[in-house]
Amino acid sequence: MSDEHPTGGVGPAEGLTRSLLEAGALTGDWSAAWAAVPRGAFLPDLMWPYDMDTGASRPVDRRADPADWERQAYANVPVTIQWDDGQHAGPGPGRVATSSASMPSVVARMLADLDVFAGARVLEIGTGTGWNAALLAARLGEGHVVTVEVDPAVAAAAREALDRAGLSPEAVCGDGRDGWPAGAPYDRVIVTAGVRQVPSAWREQTRPGGLILAPWGTHYSPEDALVRLTVSGDGSASGPFLRPLEFMKLRSQRLDWGRFGRHVDRYPGDADRSATTVGLPDLGGRGRFQAATFVLGLCVPDCAHVLNAGGDESTAWFFDMSGTRSWASVVFRPQETDATVHQSGPRRLWDEVSAALDWWRGQGSPPVESFGLTVTSRGAHRPWLGTPSRPVPSFAT
Ligand SMILES: C[S@@+](CC[C@H](N)C(=O)[O-])C[C@H]1O[C@@H](n2cnc3c(N)ncnc32)[C@H](O)[C@@H]1O
Repeated sequence: MSDEHPTGGVGPAEGLTRSLLEAGALTGDWSAAWAAVPRGAFLPDLMWPYDMDTGASRPVDRRADPADWERQAYANVPVTIQWDDGQHAGPGPGRVATSSASMPSVVARMLADLDVFAGARVLEIGTGTGWNAALLAARLGEGHVVTVEVDPAVAAAAREALDRAGLSPEAVCGDGRDGWPAGAPYDRVIVTAGVRQVPSAWREQTRPGGLILAPWGTHYSPEDALVRLTVSGDGSASGPFLRPLEFMKLRSQRLDWGRFGRHVDRYPGDADRSATTVGLPDLGGRGRFQAATFVLGLCVPDCAHVLNAGGDESTAWFFDMSGTRSWASVVFRPQETDATVHQSGPRRLWDEVSAALDWWRGQGSPPVESFGLTVTSRGAHRPWLGTPSRPVPSFAT
């Protein structure tokens, strides 16, 4: 794709491609498909690019400002194309982003991680705009690619964009949790939504030796880490975490915060009170993609966590998800060396979190990339450190 600008400079599309090649995100084997399938061809007139500086999304309408739209289409930012499962109307951003074109550098790196080869059959979960499916189809041939999208309106728009681009991978509207058995077995499954459980269908539909590439995490945090699982002949799958990232979650695996409404009847009520010298930064603080946050989620199962950060006071909350109404809170104040802990219910969630933190530090505070995941043939998820034979301990009480 030639993208020379009238001014003689490089246009947004070419600029993006060059920067991704220089950064090593886009690999040479994907260059031809990348050039053949411009991102802008898959974006709607009205879209909401994410502003990395402000952390907010703003509407950009091609009909009102084509130049801005073009710039944003080829900026290295995620672009929301649907809010609130399609219930939101109007140009302002909605509450929850529910479909998007992922950040181009994330798309390019995931395609490289997918390690495709000529003739490979690929299943994509989460069609979204259809751009990623188009890239796969341009590289592998449309008969080799199946993509599944749960939202009918998103699926229909993606199909139209794929048609306009002259590419016809099999684009299915359905729940990607079930995979697409009619097209199995696949050599590669690429998941472009975050998951908390790897559905058995994906393992069953991948041939032995094949790969499942998925953003995976725990409900401790909305963040994910990209896991690359190799499927074995016995139906299990295992592999390393490649790096942290964050995707919108598979519809059926979103965390329902409403379920914690009855955990804290009165605060602090009859909760046990104690103190801790653990500081907010030890827990990952306010930063994104902190190894501590990810690892605490691995070690403290069935625990949802949220930080209410404030200037004078920040409270870390922990909620049990395993059926008890246990909760813990830790209040951090900048002028106090000890933070105040409250714990209620049979699970001592703060004790679990602080024991997990001690364990992780005792291991030398290894990064996310030192960990991996095995999904057994029965579907149990077993995180490990370094090698599958070193399971991450569970600190559940
Ligand atoms: C980040 S977007 C995918 C980006 C996309 N691959 C692209 O190239 O534009 C995630 C998509 O996953 C879809 N999704 C969520 N849950 C799903 C499910 N259970 N099955 C299939 N798709 C799902 C969402 O509707 C959304 O369109």
